[in-house]
Amino acid sequence: MIRDKHIPIMVNEIHSFINNKKNLSILDCTFGGGGHTKKFLESGHFVTAIDQDDNSMIIARKLKKNFSNIFFYKANFRNINLLNLEIKKFNLILLDLGFSSNQLDDINIGLSFKLNSNLNMNYLGGNLNAHKIINHYDKYELQRIFDLYGEIKQAEKLAKYIVNQRSIKKINTNFELIEVLKESGVKFRSKKIHFATQAFQALRIETNKELDNLVEFLKKVHDYLDIDAYLAIISFHSLEDRIVKNFFKENKVKKNREFNNKKNWGFENLTKKPLIASKSEVLENNRARSAKLRVGRFIN
Ligand SMILES: C[S@@+](CC[C@H](N)C(=O)[O-])C[C@H]1O[C@@H](n2cnc3c(N)ncnc32)[C@H](O)[C@@H]1O
Repeated sequence: MIRDKHIPIMVNEIHSFINNKKNLSILDCTFGGGGHTKKFLESGHFVTAIDQDDNSMIIARKLKKNFSNIFFYKANFRNINLLNLEIKKFNLILLDLGFSSNQLDDINIGLSFKLNSNLNMNYLGGNLNAHKIINHYDKYELQRIFDLYGEIKQAEKLAKYIVNQRSIKKINTNFELIEVLKESGVKFRSKKIHFATQAFQALRIETNKELDNLVEFLKKVHDYLDIDAYLAIISFHSLEDRIVKNFFKENKVKKNREFNNKKNWGFENLTKKPLIASKSEVLENNRARSAKLRVGRFIN
């Protein structure tokens, strides 16, 4: 069964950078439900799409029946250099990071704290999952991920409590984990968000190596950008956004066209402050509330 209920985010904002341009070659590194890709195809552009997700592959195949200008690769975008791409340089590269609504609703992945799934959270393949982390990481590793990826102030207290609880009984499901978090006595951020959000975020980032994937991809992205191409990145949490912000800063082109990174390429930062979704978009799609879009123009 194809799951396809993901609503693409900040479509107008992204298209505002390429309005009036025709026949662009676009690389959509996070195809998901294909929402962004479909809009690009409808505007007559050529899309190379990447996603690690099987469901995405099925959606892409279906899309190919109506649009011949799409090439899909099932892969982790951090490994882009291993792909035998039909098109090698792009006018726009888009990353819409994280997981899709289709994946959030998938009980086998178990990203939601509303569904009682087996502890997993892996939506990108690979061997790690939240069950292994929660039941086998030592106290210091747990503390590290809760601190770094969850920004939980009492990370040490939480790690200690989990290690103690799992020695009595393994923690197998999302609901069991939520119960442990509740009983831990740790103060989580809970204004406007579910109290388990920070811990779930930490486990998800660690399981899928989300930040590493982004960092590794950014090391390679300049090889795939045509002159004057746009790099557009939508992130959903401050850790990702910080990486993107620093990337554009470190690789900025100065006023005298000198490259900050001392290489022969750089970026003009087109979004001094990240763009956020309009109020009406957030009303229609709650997921858009935490989205931040940064765009740079490639100069070489
Ligand atoms: C927010 S969704 C993208 C939604 C898409 N823009 C749309 O309009 O339907 C993120 C997608 O990126 C994929 N993804 C995240 N990190 C990835 C990675 N490192 N490599 C490949 N795909 C990745 C996820 O599997 C997910 O399908």
